[in-house]
Amino acid sequence: MERMLSGIKPTGQVTLGNYIGAIKNFLKYQDEYELFIFIANLHAITVFQDKLELKKNTKDIAALYLACGLDPKKVTLFIQTDILEHANLSFVLNCFTYMGELNRMTQYKDKSQKLGESSINVGLFTYPDLMAADILLYDPKYIPVGDDQKQHVELTRDIASRVNNRLGNVFVIPEPLIPENGARIMSLSDPSKKMSKSDESNDKGCIYLLDDPDVAKKKIMSAVTDSDAKIFFDRENKPGISNLLEIYSSLTDISIKDLEKKYSNSNYGEFKKDLANIVKNFLIDIQSKYKNVLDSKIIEDVLESGAQKARLIASKKLNKIYKKLGLAS
Ligand code: TYM
Repeated sequence: MERMLSGIKPTGQVTLGNYIGAIKNFLKYQDEYELFIFIANLHAITVFQDKLELKKNTKDIAALYLACGLDPKKVTLFIQTDILEHANLSFVLNCFTYMGELNRMTQYKDKSQKLGESSINVGLFTYPDLMAADILLYDPKYIPVGDDQKQHVELTRDIASRVNNRLGNVFVIPEPLIPENGARIMSLSDPSKKMSKSDESNDKGCIYLLDDPDVAKKKIMSAVTDSDAKIFFDRENKPGISNLLEIYSSLTDISIKDLEKKYSNSNYGEFKKDLANIVKNFLIDIQSKYKNVLDSKIIEDVLESGAQKARLIASKKLNKIYKKLGLAS
């Protein structure tokens, strides 16, 4: 089986965008690939986190992964800080990355434009190197992520090739795997922006998997749409309705074409009401599974056995690189 790896950062709650762009795809991959999934808690502290909230969010992500259907017998699930090699390799990769490359990363550029370069911490700047370390320690072939992470995986490929050229073949060059549908779920209140858990100013635009299902229903009902009342997919001219069609299609596995047919004679209100109920029922189901996972108290064991397996692979890889660099004998 080929290996695949991905992760989610525990900043705030898991969103419907995270589910559609990432978690949902992990479910189908767990039968076809050797899947490694982790919780990127070091990445989280690039923005200041309350320590109790960070702990809770970390545990919640693990519980939600399982509630969504990840099977711990098939998937290696672990927390980034349980494997010290991530931070170690990250420093090594800093030494193989140019400032210009990190300066060009869209997420960094957006944040530094918003906040000013001098108030951005260095951890945020070197964030892509930590992500490259997360990936390269395990030699995965594929990295399933939403659209916003593609550039980071591409940088990882460049760094891996550079290290391979200098040190001999140490890394597998990974490929990003972006879903055809749902790679970029947009904010419900501003469909020109990504649905994001870090956008605290915009709670209405974002559905969280642990939202009260009735609140989520209201968020769908009040989602921004355009003035023409026809329901069809046109991301450029009808970004609001196209986003809702994408959410609907992802949660039901009905194609967008079939949804356009189904709603060809309906108005926005009817369409939104159906979608609001679909989202509400989806959340009710996930939340009851999430509660069962928490009650069963299996998370610690799952994370511990995941960490043991991951640590073995990561420590071998780091040791190999340290030897090549003259840092270990
Ligand atoms: P994070 O936590 O921001 O997002 C986790 C995953 O969810 C996807 N995603 C979305 N997909 C569709 N629509 C959206 N609105 C949306 N918002 C988020 C992301 O693309 C991602 O796949 N740096 C990463 C975590 C990470 C990682 C890694 C991922 C750290 N190391 C190594 C892969 C491999 C991040 O912040 O994702």
